[in-house]
Amino acid sequence: MIERTLVIIKPDGVLRGLIGTIISRFEKCGLKIVGMKMAYPDEKLAGNHYVADEEWLVGVGTKQKAAYEKKGVKIDKSERDLGLQVREYLIEYLTMSPVIALCIQGHNAIAHVRKIVGTTSPQDANPGTIRGDFSFDTYQLADKSKRPIQNLIHASGNKKDADRETKIWFTDKEIHDWQRIDEALMYRKGK
Ligand SMILES: Nc1ncnc2c1ncn2[C@@H]1O[C@H](COP(=O)(O)OP(=O)(O)O)[C@@H](O)[C@H]1O
Ligand SMILES: [Mg+2]
Repeated sequence: MIERTLVIIKPDGVLRGLIGTIISRFEKCGLKIVGMKMAYPDEKLAGNHYVADEEWLVGVGTKQKAAYEKKGVKIDKSERDLGLQVREYLIEYLTMSPVIALCIQGHNAIAHVRKIVGTTSPQDANPGTIRGDFSFDTYQLADKSKRPIQNLIHASGNKKDADRETKIWFTDKEIHDWQRIDEALMYRKGK
């Protein structure tokens, strides 16, 4: 199924000069960039992007607790409170430098992009993924420095988020319909 998804190269990716390297990972596997811009988010934009959705807040806290428990550490704070703290860090972080927003289109693009990006904590992300290859950050290191995990990329988690997030960063006119040369190979009709 052809899908569109929203990717942000976050401030650590921009400030470390990794824009081109990161974009090429998506391009090389055949995904198509249909929208791209540099933006300097203000608090409103960052807060809209990381909206305080209950499910997301609890999900973030749950993942953090699980990562700590793996190391034998128990956290007393509720999952939701952990999520709210992370959201605060994220808004501060996303507004610290320009970012690159990409709308990426392709076959099963939402899941495929997440696979190329890797898991939330770069130390746990597989080699070959963007997060696994370009960062060594962990939940604990981020916590200690009172900042979000620096994992270079945001990528929409599902179709509903992809649609909502794409609308935040792009107008309809900024999304372009065009053909990659290799589409003729991938989608040719069999005999
Ligand atoms: N427990 C945490 N501590 C610090 N930062 C976090 C934590 N959980 C998530 N983050 C940051 O918030 C972002 C959004 O979280 P989430 O949606 O769960 O991850 P992902 O980006 O992998 O979809 C992460 O990419 C990461 O930068
Ligand atoms: Mg997410």
